[in-house]
Amino acid sequence: MSQDIAIQFDKVLAGYKDLMILNHLDLKIRRAAITLLIGPNGAGKSTVLKTLFGLLKPREGRVLFEGEDISGATQKDLLGKGLAFVPQGRNLFPQLSVYQNLELGGITLGTKLTHERIPEVLKHFPRVQERIHSQASALSGGEQKQLEIARALLLRPKVLLIDEPSIGLSPIVVQDVFKLLRQLAEQGTTIVMVEQNVKSALKISDEAIALESGRCVLHRKASELLADPDIERLFLGGHVASV
Ligand SMILES: Nc1ncnc2c1ncn2[C@@H]1O[C@H](COP(=O)(O)OP(=O)(O)O)[C@@H](O)[C@H]1O
Ligand SMILES: [Mg+2]
Repeated sequence: MSQDIAIQFDKVLAGYKDLMILNHLDLKIRRAAITLLIGPNGAGKSTVLKTLFGLLKPREGRVLFEGEDISGATQKDLLGKGLAFVPQGRNLFPQLSVYQNLELGGITLGTKLTHERIPEVLKHFPRVQERIHSQASALSGGEQKQLEIARALLLRPKVLLIDEPSIGLSPIVVQDVFKLLRQLAEQGTTIVMVEQNVKSALKISDEAIALESGRCVLHRKASELLADPDIERLFLGGHVASV
């Protein structure tokens, strides 16, 4: 596998019970870049992230990370290899404090390292920092999402999988989060993002992959996609952009 490629899906068949969602999907995800997954609702975007993070096992085919087959790996293995996942929706322990949520995120690091890293990570999230002793459920939706991202970054992941981060965030916070993702990619993190805010997400992405019915129907540079009026009409003009 080329040095440039961090993750590869090799004819991956995966789904839920008897319902196959990824239909022998082939994908290549570039290292130290942001890859945006786009496509209509139900196309399988979230399923790609779940498969990468070991929440679904491929029925056929292989998922490779840095050339190694991770198809059967557990989530603990995958965290150890440097993958982190921020799923869609709410994923905090609502009764626990902000700090306790962060501590739990660092459980695989040990207490000392976790306590060292928490203030570093929170530099990127001043609003969360201010509310460090609040109960997580008392934070706004946007602050909770920032806390989830902060919790994932504690692990200094090599790969960050992030599903629809902008939901519930104000436009300014979305821009801050996008800026941070861009910085992380510049520093070497491989990012795979699903985002309905396709146009703004493309502006900070390197690659764009469109899925339809669990297949890759397009893989282009994000900048090309933004510049191409036909593609814009096909992928950004209709259903996808308006959701
Ligand atoms: N836990 C689940 N059990 C059964 N079907 C599911 C589950 N999660 C998603 N699906 C189905 O899989 C298909 C693809 O879902 P998903 O990957 O979430 O799409 P996307 O993120 O592109 O909108 C959808 O038809 C959805 O209804
Ligand atoms: Mg989804």
